[in-house]
Amino acid sequence: MDLGIRDRVAMVAAGTKGIGWACARALAAEGCRVAVCSRSDDNLERAAAELPGLHAHRCDVTRAEDLEAWVEAVRRDLGEPDILVTNTGGPPAGPLSQMTDEQWQAGVDATLMNVVRLMRLVAPRMSRRGWGRIVHITSLVAKEPSDLLPISSTLRAGLMALTRLQANELAPKGVTVNAVLPGHTLTDRQLHLANVRAERLGIAPSEALQRQAEEVPVRRLADPSEIAAAVAFLCSVPAAYITGVNLLVDGGLTRGLG
Ligand SMILES: NC(=O)c1ccc[n+]([C@@H]2O[C@H](COP(=O)([O-])OP(=O)(O)OC[C@H]3O[C@@H](n4cnc5c(N)ncnc54)[C@H](OP(=O)(O)O)[C@@H]3O)[C@@H](O)[C@H]2O)c1
Repeated sequence: MDLGIRDRVAMVAAGTKGIGWACARALAAEGCRVAVCSRSDDNLERAAAELPGLHAHRCDVTRAEDLEAWVEAVRRDLGEPDILVTNTGGPPAGPLSQMTDEQWQAGVDATLMNVVRLMRLVAPRMSRRGWGRIVHITSLVAKEPSDLLPISSTLRAGLMALTRLQANELAPKGVTVNAVLPGHTLTDRQLHLANVRAERLGIAPSEALQRQAEEVPVRRLADPSEIAAAVAFLCSVPAAYITGVNLLVDGGLTRGLG
């Protein structure tokens, strides 16, 4: 299927590793002119070396001034953004009772305000131009809170409401807003979380990963490219009638109806 997005300018926040990187590659494969950001020069340099033509910019998505500078650099170097993927790093893991005020505030900056701010910077011009695609990468914990991820679970549930509100506002302008909720996906973050679970349960990290795969109806973890395939479709021309959706890509793990 032709996704119809050749030459569109696509921004993927936190896009040098894991799910964000897979989204950047999927959009580049569709012919988009892709910009990514992240904090580490090493990650940015590796990404730029692997994907010719990639626009890679150092930016911490928790900082308003960094986001402004990133959007400005993309406008200057590639043109007005048509597609925005608001990926981010994951908030800290651990029991609810141990989460500090500082960790909660950092979680708000890293998973909620990044989305609010990027939308504010990019959506008004998409509206004026009459076309845009916005996809928030959140998590299955938005629909099934995890004891290990209390901050992520709380904030990602809120992002479901925000996605709906943004979609309502922007639909008449030709801009769709959706969220993709990955399940267990084999990335560095997943390996980190496996270490946390392994320590809690007194088992080896490999055993923690194995147990996690067995919970999933498809009996394996996702490859990041499988999350990115859903993201790329939501960014496409044929997806014009899909907006306000929170799409689970979790191998059937979340058992609820909603
Ligand atoms: N993996 C899973 O199973 C899973 C499941 C559900 C939801 N998710 C969510 O999906 C998102 C991506 O997870 P992942 O597993 O792909 O993570 P990952 O493999 O750890 O990659 C994270 C990426 O984000 C960048 N990043 C992190 N913090 C950043 C910041 N403050 N500013 C800019 N860039 C930042 C990192 O680069 P730098 O270090 O260079 O900044 C890296 O490129 C997270 O929000 C996570 O909660 C993941």
